[in-house]
Amino acid sequence: MTMSFREAYAAERFRADGHRLIDRLADYLQRATDGQRAVLPWAPPAEMLQRWPATFPDEPVADPDAIVKMIDAVLEQSHALHHPRYVGHQVSAPLPLAAAMEMVGALLNNGMAVYEMGPVATAMEHHVVRWLGSRIGLPNAQGVLTSGGSIGNLTALLAARQVKAGFDAWNDGLHAGPPLCVIGSTQAHYSIARAVAMLGVGARGMIDVPVDAQYRMRPDALAAALAAAHDAGKRPIAVIASAGSTATGAIDPLEPIADFCAAHDLWLHVDGAHGASAALSPRYRDLLRGIERADSVVWDMHKMMMTPALVTAVLFKDGARSYAPFAQEASYLFHGEGDEDGEWWNVGLRTVECTKRMLSLKVYVALSLFGTRFFGDYVTHTFDQARRFARMLEAAPDFALAIEPALNIVCFRYQPAGVHGREALDALQTRVRRRIVESGRFYLVQTALSGGVHLRTTLMNPLTTDDDLAALLDAIRAAA
Ligand SMILES: Cc1ncc(COP(=O)(O)O)c(C=O)c1O
Repeated sequence: MTMSFREAYAAERFRADGHRLIDRLADYLQRATDGQRAVLPWAPPAEMLQRWPATFPDEPVADPDAIVKMIDAVLEQSHALHHPRYVGHQVSAPLPLAAAMEMVGALLNNGMAVYEMGPVATAMEHHVVRWLGSRIGLPNAQGVLTSGGSIGNLTALLAARQVKAGFDAWNDGLHAGPPLCVIGSTQAHYSIARAVAMLGVGARGMIDVPVDAQYRMRPDALAAALAAAHDAGKRPIAVIASAGSTATGAIDPLEPIADFCAAHDLWLHVDGAHGASAALSPRYRDLLRGIERADSVVWDMHKMMMTPALVTAVLFKDGARSYAPFAQEASYLFHGEGDEDGEWWNVGLRTVECTKRMLSLKVYVALSLFGTRFFGDYVTHTFDQARRFARMLEAAPDFALAIEPALNIVCFRYQPAGVHGREALDALQTRVRRRIVESGRFYLVQTALSGGVHLRTTLMNPLTTDDDLAALLDAIRAAA
């Protein structure tokens, strides 16, 4: 029998199902944080496809437990980022409180493009953006929350193009001026190269700057990059600095890069998706010296602020420039009623999204209830642990640390006696990782560095202990 609309929206049904779902989620959390389950219960893609029906019933399912059974299966078969032995990609083990806010935001569905569609989240977003800006020495920063660092980088580069191209690229198109280009290190996240291609500059409009032995951009190589751009008849608009880079967490030397940008009238964009959170830690905030000279900064809260994906801040030092990325009018939405801060209450003016989730809610509520020190302690804890892990690797004769970790990303190689040559060692890292991941005991990733394939860990689950890391080294030895 077809379900009535009233029934589908019935508050009492939601109350009953919701309580049961929260119970299941709490059970998952307990088992994951206690390490009582697999990290990733590995199944090959084709098998996963088979497990989940490809067709849907015409009529509602009569079984009142169907929802719980289905969510149990989802929880059981999913990757458990809350497991202390999750040390893989840079995605947080989200605070349960912040995750609960996702449900609040989803049910309210206040779309946020214009103030009237999301009044509370708009005010919260304004405060969160200002607070983040003040943490990195940009007290007058304005900006926007958007869905991920990739879109964040695109947004910032759109502003750079509009401000530095020397012509109105948004309205007149790229043919109205000389070819443009962007300068960045070979270690920049791939979303930068994608953004550059999407800007219409073309992927070949990315001018690479070499890095030093610690994978940091070499500021002394910037002049040559600029000269190469000019020789090719291109107009550089921006330099992209990473803080820190995805592969190793390397932080580019921001001060000399900022000097170079000032001397050559270039936009400085800092991709702080992972590392900008260092600003929250009194012990580590100095790593970011010079970030306050950036024209724009991207900062992901779903990386180092324990927030569920996605929520990224795009911060502009000069608040007025936060309107530059989308120099477009949409009179059916926006009415041109700005004050000295622009039309800040209509957040859709500054983001690629029209309707967007209530991104600020989970951040604002967590900051309000847990206090700001909690987040600084988290950064300090994870960065400290990365340094201890580096010492553990140095003390182990069969492991080689790639570089001293700048943040909480640690890359290393397993090189037991008897295995020689780059090819054999590369194959060993790949084989060992695959075995461990498929066993469900740990989740770690790998990356190619100049010395070859390396195992890569990001220590961002604050429940990971040093004993877990010692056990990881043993598991690697056993899997070889
Ligand atoms: C330095 C850096 N920038 C940008 C991104 C992309 O962020 P997102 O995955 O939120 O789109 C990442 C992701 O790992 C990153 O490490």
